[in-house]
Amino acid sequence: MDHFLYRDGELFAEDVPVADIAAAVGTPFYLYSTATLTRHYQLFDDALDGMEHMVCYAMKAASNQAILKTLADLGAGMDVVSGGEYARAKAAGVPGERIVFSGVGKTRAEIRAALEGGIRQFNVESEPELLVISEIAASLGKTAPITVRVNPDVDAKTHAKIATGKSENKFGIPIAKARAVYAEAAALPGIDVIGIDVHIGSQLTDLEPYELAYRKVADLTEQLRADGHNIRRLDLGGGLGIPYTRSNEAPPLPSDYGALIKRTVGHLGCEIEIEPGRLIAGNAGILVSRVIYVKEGEGRNFLILDGAMNDLIRPAMYDAHHDIVPVVEPDAGVEQQPYDIVGPVCESGDTFAKNRMMPPLRAGDLVAFRSAGAYGAVMASEYNTRPLVPEVLAKCDQFAVIRQRPDFDEIINRDTIPPWL
Ligand code: LLP
Repeated sequence: MDHFLYRDGELFAEDVPVADIAAAVGTPFYLYSTATLTRHYQLFDDALDGMEHMVCYAMKAASNQAILKTLADLGAGMDVVSGGEYARAKAAGVPGERIVFSGVGKTRAEIRAALEGGIRQFNVESEPELLVISEIAASLGKTAPITVRVNPDVDAKTHAKIATGKSENKFGIPIAKARAVYAEAAALPGIDVIGIDVHIGSQLTDLEPYELAYRKVADLTEQLRADGHNIRRLDLGGGLGIPYTRSNEAPPLPSDYGALIKRTVGHLGCEIEIEPGRLIAGNAGILVSRVIYVKEGEGRNFLILDGAMNDLIRPAMYDAHHDIVPVVEPDAGVEQQPYDIVGPVCESGDTFAKNRMMPPLRAGDLVAFRSAGAYGAVMASEYNTRPLVPEVLAKCDQFAVIRQRPDFDEIINRDTIPPWL
């Protein structure tokens, strides 16, 4: 459920007409709903009720500080995967004790910054990384709380580019090697082994892979405890999928997922962490764009928008589907027609949808890409020297620009011409 609904024939973000924001900000822009972000966070928090837990938002999904602060004020922790994300979470006011550091290639500088600024735990992804964390922590006279990310060799049944839990993926330590790595970790200076981490992929629409993975984690917890480790926290990753179409998709609910967690690992008495990103931010954001031209092609009509693949890469990168709706609600019974919906970027990959049935649209009309809140703005670029797309946050009848559209000078002045030219 989200808070982008038609009222009197017009699309609203909560209590604000989307067209008013477009008039004030220009297009394209991302628009988020505070109520939807809040609701989705709350669903996870409620799903884990009765267990000691922390919902650590995977901020890679949408990392604007206004979004981070909205969630942190509700009690969320953050899952970060780079020094930049760590710094951004801190800047948004998230204390280090609520920040989990994931990622397969943490650099020395990133590890040092997190140890100095405070960290809830590192999710360690390899033995070399473990040694580096130990060395840096010991040299700073600190202790690094760690989990080891295990790779359970489970098929997440999702898009190949976003599956992470098979042995062929670069992520984690093979679960069969885990006991040896924990023994090594326990003997190292500057390391406090606190738990286990697992994350098997993104946009999971079936709970079965979670069930398989979490049962393996439960078994491993018991083995590691028998080996003498004080396993007291389980980070179960993120990845729960969202509906991208309004029609027939019904992925599992956070409450089903919470029940699964209780069923598979609840008996262990561990504190539970989860790292959802997409389910919190995905349907809490839309991309608003304007039709520049309607072009008649050979046997097809192109809807040429002012938004492009640099603003929303998911269709080009993952063949992802986003519902695209007109901001002015079509009259009931209006006949739909097929369009190829494209952006102005100079490559054919800049296509959002082919043969998409839409009500008739004209130059100047506004459209909204639904389910664009996660992995939308964060994956945007300035390809074709198109300004990085701005972001707006709505709350009830208010809205605020939370990232300005840069002007051309800001973009161009980042380049430096060397003295020999
Ligand atoms: N934890 C870890 C360690 C992750 O790698 C990820 C996502 C998450 C949590 C959050 O997963 P979520 O709940 O958002 O599914 N750009 C792609 C998605 C990449 C996901 C990468 N890792 C897309 O647009 O579909």
